[in-house]
Amino acid sequence: MTFKRGADSAEPFHVSLIHNLSVLFLFFSSSLPLGGCGGVSPERSLVWGPGIGTGSVLPVLPVRYFYIQAVDSNGQNLTVSPGKDTFKVKIRAADNGEHIRVHVPPPLDRGDGSFLMRYRLYGSATKGLKVEILHRDAAVAQSPYIIPGPVYHEYCDCPEPDASVWQNVMKCPKDEPQIVEDFQPFPSIDLQRLRQEAPVRFSNRGGLVHYVIINNHIYRRTLGKYTDFKMFSDEMLLSLTRKVKLPDVEFFINVGDWPLETRKTDPVPVLSWCGSTDTRDVVLPTYEVTHSTLETLRGVTNDLLSVQGHTGPPWVNKSDQAFFRGRDSREERLHLVSLSKKNPDLLDAGITGWFFFRDREKQVGKAPLVGFFDFFKYKYQVNVDGTVAAYRFPYLMLGNSLVLKQDSPYYEHFYSRLQAGTHYVPVKRNLSDLLDAIRWAQQNDAEAREVGRAGQEAARELLQPSRLYCYYYRVLLMYSERQDGRPSRHPDMEEVPQLDDHTAACSCQRRNQENEPKDEL
Ligand SMILES: *[C@@H]1O[C@H](CO)[C@@H](O)[C@H](O)[C@H]1NC(C)=O
Ligand SMILES: *[C@@H]1O[C@H](CO)[C@@H](O)[C@H](O)[C@H]1NC(C)=O
Ligand SMILES: *[C@@H]1O[C@H](CO)[C@@H](O)[C@H](O)[C@H]1NC(C)=O
Repeated sequence: MTFKRGADSAEPFHVSLIHNLSVLFLFFSSSLPLGGCGGVSPERSLVWGPGIGTGSVLPVLPVRYFYIQAVDSNGQNLTVSPGKDTFKVKIRAADNGEHIRVHVPPPLDRGDGSFLMRYRLYGSATKGLKVEILHRDAAVAQSPYIIPGPVYHEYCDCPEPDASVWQNVMKCPKDEPQIVEDFQPFPSIDLQRLRQEAPVRFSNRGGLVHYVIINNHIYRRTLGKYTDFKMFSDEMLLSLTRKVKLPDVEFFINVGDWPLETRKTDPVPVLSWCGSTDTRDVVLPTYEVTHSTLETLRGVTNDLLSVQGHTGPPWVNKSDQAFFRGRDSREERLHLVSLSKKNPDLLDAGITGWFFFRDREKQVGKAPLVGFFDFFKYKYQVNVDGTVAAYRFPYLMLGNSLVLKQDSPYYEHFYSRLQAGTHYVPVKRNLSDLLDAIRWAQQNDAEAREVGRAGQEAARELLQPSRLYCYYYRVLLMYSERQDGRPSRHPDMEEVPQLDDHTAACSCQRRNQENEPKDEL
């Protein structure tokens, strides 16, 4: 959503968000009720997540996070917001003598009685952290939490040598069905053949990046015309190798939009950000989801965590219509606008940017941009593909609206974990049943709301930063296990170096000096 490609004038999604943020914060701070019925019980309230724990090792993530569930004195979970200032969180070095740099924004009110707390360390806390959670000066749950050191920060180059230890700390799921399915056509990966075929077949199709990881060092060369998006694969691989020792592995990442491998027999494995039912690409989380996870609380204004605190008014206060804004990247989007013009009581749809179908702009019209968080003023969100899968889908699923999803051959890494009818309402590719779906939702409000809620719950789980790291790791692991041949550095490859400045300084205690592999290349 952030990035433009070529002449394609992408909708300035994040840019418009910056303008809308300040307005939204004002809106939220004046419109939320303070204090819930029954009141919050600080000691019965619940706290959990990968960014907190008592005496436990915390996974290293760009932004650590945990959840707070407000519970009343009868032990009942609150299901509406008790007010955005209900909880205060303070994070300090456990040792008074240690100075740490940490960014601690207030907890995000998720509007359903739960809060999402984020913090970003800009230096490692050698002697640990002390996390205090307060409700009106009273300690919440087991607060204060003492997290033993060292607590490493994102840029500390300190991989865990034992990947199974790392996976346990990350609480990676036992299996990822999409990865198993994606590797089915590749029981063995002949690296020799891969090196010959992949460049010939795929490098003129956009952008291809040839990577090899040896001894946790990353080397790459680029093939094809449009390879700027290697910045996203680079940053993710660097982030992974700072956290865990990766297997030696050699592979190609397709940094273009479309999945590439159409062969049914003798397919060549290529890793892509988007999958489709008629290709054999191995899917990775999109660059959009990846980048926003890495840059949360830093370079992006909208990410998978912050959106959870900006899901608009409560369900009953949302407008009873379906909503869509986006650019003209697929014909059905224009069809959506014509449906909207004929049925304004059901659907509010508009095209905000013209590029692909400019000749139709006069007839269809151009709608003003709407900040993404304002989408959630509507009960129903229409998700129609762009050039490939619409990369807004994860963000829509994290809101508390109901998503009406166009049937599509395209998918992202987590779609197969969601069920049509349970987590979202499917609509036909030509949108012929869209209006009926909206009418159904209007007439079955409780059910529609429940599908929206179930979808949100699943998305909160699946799209967590920790799961993203687990997913990348598992793809590389499964790939490495199938390699036939030795990963080796091509003469045209250059090393992708880790950051080398003071922000990366840390005293890593995981490195065993004697076993430290020498860079022999
Ligand atoms: C209260 O919320 C927590 C956290 O989401 C959940 O695990 C628990 O099951 C909920 N309790 C009840 C009684 O619903
Ligand atoms: C929701 O709507 C009701 C009236 O229907 C109003 O009293 C209440 O303040 C609204 N709440 C929010 C958060 O907009
Ligand atoms: C829309 O697609 C369905 C198949 O999914 C087809 O039966 C129907 O005729 C199509 N409607 C229009 C108006 O093209």
